[in-house]
Amino acid sequence: MSIDLTELDPVKVEAFQGVAVTEAAAAESAACCYLGDVLGLYAAMAGAGPLTSAELAERTDTHERYVAEWLANQAAGGYVTYDEVQGTFELPDEHAAVLADPDSPTFVAGIFPIIAAAWAAVDRAVDALRSGEGIGWHEHDPRLFGGVERLFAPLYRHQLVQDWIPALDGVHDRLTAGAQVADVGCGLGASTIVLAEAYPASRFTGFDSHPESIAAASKAAAEAGVGDRVGFEVVPADSVPGAGYDLVCFFDCLHDMGDPVAAAARAREALTDDGTLLVVEPQASDHLADNLNPISRLFYAGSVFLCTPNSLSQDGAVGLGAQAGPTRLREALTDAGFTHHRVATETPFNLVIEARP
Ligand SMILES: C[S@@+](CC[C@H](N)C(=O)[O-])C[C@H]1O[C@@H](n2cnc3c(N)ncnc32)[C@H](O)[C@@H]1O
Repeated sequence: MSIDLTELDPVKVEAFQGVAVTEAAAAESAACCYLGDVLGLYAAMAGAGPLTSAELAERTDTHERYVAEWLANQAAGGYVTYDEVQGTFELPDEHAAVLADPDSPTFVAGIFPIIAAAWAAVDRAVDALRSGEGIGWHEHDPRLFGGVERLFAPLYRHQLVQDWIPALDGVHDRLTAGAQVADVGCGLGASTIVLAEAYPASRFTGFDSHPESIAAASKAAAEAGVGDRVGFEVVPADSVPGAGYDLVCFFDCLHDMGDPVAAAARAREALTDDGTLLVVEPQASDHLADNLNPISRLFYAGSVFLCTPNSLSQDGAVGLGAQAGPTRLREALTDAGFTHHRVATETPFNLVIEARP
């Protein structure tokens, strides 16, 4: 121990201990939130009004003794309200919009399986931080893949067609008339399917290096009824086949790639001369000092466990990180041969960057 405890300001120590305990309570409670999501406890409480633990257990086919304990945890965290007189618990509608309704623009429960996957990788991360070795996307606990899709899909459903595409110069008209679109690093295809549903005259191909994600994306497109004009292929970003694309998209994946410049350069080659590159990245400022907020904190944690290790596992191993910020992203696009680029719009969670050859 290199600090002299007698020299410390006890008020500051106690205040920070309070912060640490509060954060630990939230971190352990995230595992309870995972249960609430997977067991349908939040869904059963949504719009149901006050419920006893026995009523919730009956509605979800779960064991009352556990549910009582779970509800106590949720009440202590302010996720549900507690009526001591009636012995009931209620999920406020405003909380249901965040935890229980995947169609809500504010739904974030997809984060809980991602947290589970991060914990599943923690021993591997211990070794990786010592050795500098990478961890490939495909090596993670499978809960990661569906979690990412569930976390980001609400953004795509509520912002992509409504706000992001109109912020790009001429792209809405082109998609409406009928365009060729590549969605690189498409994961489970949520963005590809949203675009295909909105622009029936256009054709879309999603590319990703993770075979299981591509299989799930193909299934989802068929289920959404857009399988006739949406295809998916297992291909790394720097080898995307074809040419003549009017729009190439990278949704929350350019920073994950070992060589983002090579990936963007391949997109540059595959675009028509007047085509558009759309790069959606996590919201970030250029400087760490400006990123000291809860959203960046979440992204930095994901970057430690998921984004940076994936990049370090691939050729190039650039390790851009999930908080690269607009200047480093635009530098990568310049290096890839794009002469024009700008932040077309932004949200609390995303930077939406337009680039042109
Ligand atoms: C954070 S996920 C985003 C997935 C999807 N775009 C979305 O927004 O839901 C990153 C994706 O990039 C993919 N990926 C990572 N490196 C890649 C590479 N070099 N080439 C193609 N895909 C890659 C991963 O397999 C993963 O599906």
